[in-house]
Amino acid sequence: MSPAMVMSPKQSNYDSTLEFQYQKGVKHMYENGIEHVPNKYILPASERPNVVINSEKSSHVPQIINVQLPIIDFAQLQGPNRTEVLESLSYACQNYGFFQLVNHGIPDEIMNEMVNVSKRFFEMPFSEREKYMSTDMSSPVRYGTSFNQTNDGVFCWRDFLKLSCHPLPETLPYWPTSPLDFRQLAVTYAKENKYLFLMLVEAILESLGLKNKEKKTKLVAKNDDDENNDDDDDDDDYIEEILKEFEDGSQLMVVNCYPPCPEPDLTLGMPPHSDYGFLTLLQQDEVKGLQIQHQDKWVTIQPIPGSFVVNVGDHLEIFSNGKYKSVLHRVLVNSMKHRISVASLHSLPFANTVRPSPKLIDETNPRLYKDTDFASFLQYVKSCDSTKKNFIESRKFDQS
Ligand code: OGA
Ligand code: NI
Repeated sequence: MSPAMVMSPKQSNYDSTLEFQYQKGVKHMYENGIEHVPNKYILPASERPNVVINSEKSSHVPQIINVQLPIIDFAQLQGPNRTEVLESLSYACQNYGFFQLVNHGIPDEIMNEMVNVSKRFFEMPFSEREKYMSTDMSSPVRYGTSFNQTNDGVFCWRDFLKLSCHPLPETLPYWPTSPLDFRQLAVTYAKENKYLFLMLVEAILESLGLKNKEKKTKLVAKNDDDENNDDDDDDDDYIEEILKEFEDGSQLMVVNCYPPCPEPDLTLGMPPHSDYGFLTLLQQDEVKGLQIQHQDKWVTIQPIPGSFVVNVGDHLEIFSNGKYKSVLHRVLVNSMKHRISVASLHSLPFANTVRPSPKLIDETNPRLYKDTDFASFLQYVKSCDSTKKNFIESRKFDQS
């Protein structure tokens, strides 16, 4: 037997053992004292964090660009300055696809406890976390690693726990029971988050010009001039209908854990992606790492304690017929600190079709996106590399 013939089965055995190890996630690897990033996690040079995008020659000069995202004060949105705040909201959604939400009304204690119990979840022994491992996309609870661990060629430096929050009575019995207070804290957080999301959707619809802002005055005038007000009533019914759909909409909570990485310049915590859904409400701890693509550069979002980073998802880009942008973002890792984030992704019920709002389309604003549903998204995730912003691109009508 030639040496080569002896080598190859051994080699493949070795590879599959490693592959099996990687499926256990990066926290597990970190706990075992890893000193170098394994090949499986090393990005091609052009995709590494310090490369300047859209430059003729790719350069490796580190660029640290911190950007102050537009800040939306939720309390102000509920007060006499609503109109001005809605304008800022619209500006942020068009030009950044992101904003920081402060004074949102969810008590600090609930926010802090959620991050705290998430940390404690990831600190449990692997044998405890492993119980929730699943690669089934429809499972109500899913512990895993990387971005899409069955498809990713290169793995990323993240472990996650995904909790499906709707309908809660059906999904809750599957959520982790340890740490002992996990369920209680996560349920409270999920409910508060949903309520805040619904208030935000109302503001977003209004910022798109879909709501009759002067409802009260017009209703008083109704008796005098019935005909003119029919449109306004239609608008209100339309808004009510959409809000009702969202009340029964999908909600996914993703707890992300990014352990320290021995060579953070070679890999990413999450590759560039846009979020599938209508809006994402992200709580990040005090460790920075989130970057968004803004004016052709990657810029770092400074954490503001107690706030949410809110971003436009693919569904809102489609619904707004491209006015609001679902922007690419990614996560950097570092060699010193653990980072925890909790992302809440909200959208319409899975069975619904997402399409541009008929009220935002006319001859001067032709429809730009095709109908979209969850089945077509799942098909897309299975079939190709979901780390590029291809999904939303695939939903656009060919403009040529
Ligand atoms: C996400 C995401 C960013 C972060 O979960 O989709 O983009 O900072 N998270 O963890
Ligand atoms: Ni995201």
